[in-house]
Amino acid sequence: MEFRNTLYEKGEGIATITINRPQALNALNEETLVEISSRIEDARQDENTKVIIITGTGDRAFCAGADLKMMEGAGAYKGMRLSQIGQKVTMEVEEAEKPVIAAINGYALGGGLELAMACDIRIASENAQLGQPEVNVGLIPGWGGTQRLPRFVGKGKAKEMIFTGERIDAKTAEKLGLVNRVVPQDRLKSTVREFAAELINKPPIAIALVKQLINTSSETNLNVGLTNEAEAFGVLASTEDFREGVSAFLEKRKPQYKGK
Ligand code: CAA
Repeated sequence: MEFRNTLYEKGEGIATITINRPQALNALNEETLVEISSRIEDARQDENTKVIIITGTGDRAFCAGADLKMMEGAGAYKGMRLSQIGQKVTMEVEEAEKPVIAAINGYALGGGLELAMACDIRIASENAQLGQPEVNVGLIPGWGGTQRLPRFVGKGKAKEMIFTGERIDAKTAEKLGLVNRVVPQDRLKSTVREFAAELINKPPIAIALVKQLINTSSETNLNVGLTNEAEAFGVLASTEDFREGVSAFLEKRKPQYKGK
């Protein structure tokens, strides 16, 4: 497969996927979605990769959404298919067993915000602007925004943002819980890498299971969620990593986790 719209770097336990269409503010056409899907799958399969970062090229945009040139004159069937493809990719990001961090280096609009919301952690630069402006072109968010945005900011704020299409700045997004942290633009890359580096040494099975439990917490009732939690707890109690964690604690040394 030829990759023309994304860059991909792997090393030191981190895989970085960079959307590379600066001429379109990193807007996502179908080809780019397929590339992201393939990069995610590679990072999932690669046992040396512990953390995945998604970002955009340049200092203007993480991603300005679905490519409106691709959407132009789509028609009902193509429109539905484009929605389904984007939903599939955002689910792949959300369901990857490894932590995925969005490094939001500018505009995160429409499908760009939807991609960022599918990530586990969002770190934004001070110049970032976030929003779901689809209504301004007669659409609605189609890659999960109607479902994920209210889970972050509540139904009222989500409706306000989607009805108006307004953009909010990074600090406002942080206050709303939509981004985890805001840093000056020149510190975004280093902050994200430091955060990723902290996660690399954590026990992979515990991270994978807690990600799954938190992701499903809003879909399950409390009793089912607690049963799932207890089962995961039991699974973890039987891992080599748990034995290593306790031994390391008692021997006052750093644990070496193997994901077993
Ligand atoms: N699709 C295709 N091209 C885009 C794009 C998009 N979503 N966003 C920006 N671009 C292109 C522009 O067409 C322009 O290209 P040209 O130089 O060839 O004209 C280039 O990127 C730079 O953009 P601007 O000149 O518009 O830059 P600006 O600084 O004046 O404005 C902006 C920046 C506010 C982000 C503005 O570009 C904008 O509003 N973009 C559209 C954002 C949007 O509506 N996103 C939602 C798309 S629909 C969607 O995502 C549906 C879904 O839920 C999946």
